[in-house]
Amino acid sequence: MKKLADMNHPFYEVMNNVKLLPLYTVKDLSVLPLAEEILFNNGVPVIEVAYRSKLATEAIRILAKSGRIHVGAGTVRTLEQAKDAVEAGASFVVSPCIVPEVIEYCIEKDIPVFPGAVTPSEIQSLITNYGINVVKFFPADVYGGLKAMKALSGPFPDVRFVPTGGINGENFLDYVSEDIIVAAGGSFILTEDGIKKDGTGVWANENLASVVRSL
Ligand code: 3PG
Repeated sequence: MKKLADMNHPFYEVMNNVKLLPLYTVKDLSVLPLAEEILFNNGVPVIEVAYRSKLATEAIRILAKSGRIHVGAGTVRTLEQAKDAVEAGASFVVSPCIVPEVIEYCIEKDIPVFPGAVTPSEIQSLITNYGINVVKFFPADVYGGLKAMKALSGPFPDVRFVPTGGINGENFLDYVSEDIIVAAGGSFILTEDGIKKDGTGVWANENLASVVRSL
């Protein structure tokens, strides 16, 4: 019988407690220790390193070796990226869509995987094929945001969401205050540019501190 996802994996509880999933694109590895520090110090010990730059695997390796925060891979669209990420130490994988070989590989390795699904059929296929009932909802603002996820909860009361896309400092609280939301993801939490703004990370730290304070 096909192995299904372990939805009791402790990482789901981590996400549910932290409520935030920082999506971070690495263009400059030298900023990484500061990013790690800012997340750790603000009680957000999670980072999704996006496969939107060539430095993703290396950044995952560095953060996993340090071991201070949970490091995962984002924007994973190929099996090769998933393997690179997991071999470098990624402990979770996020994908904008349903890529069967990525999902199967993650389940085999007991790595929580968050595939993107926005339609009833996509959501049902994740449940039927993989036992996955926590899905990424992307791009959240375009696909109807909270209103759409609440409507989906009617027929799918067992499903919870990790929305990303268009979530920002103004609207993230609307999302995370709903039970159907495990965590809100996005680049509003921390970016390399934000850290570089003043060269010291003070602005980025204060920005994240104020996000966390309002949770
Ligand atoms: C994602 O891939 O999750 C989104 O692109 C994040 O969107 P944002 O940059 O609007 O937060």
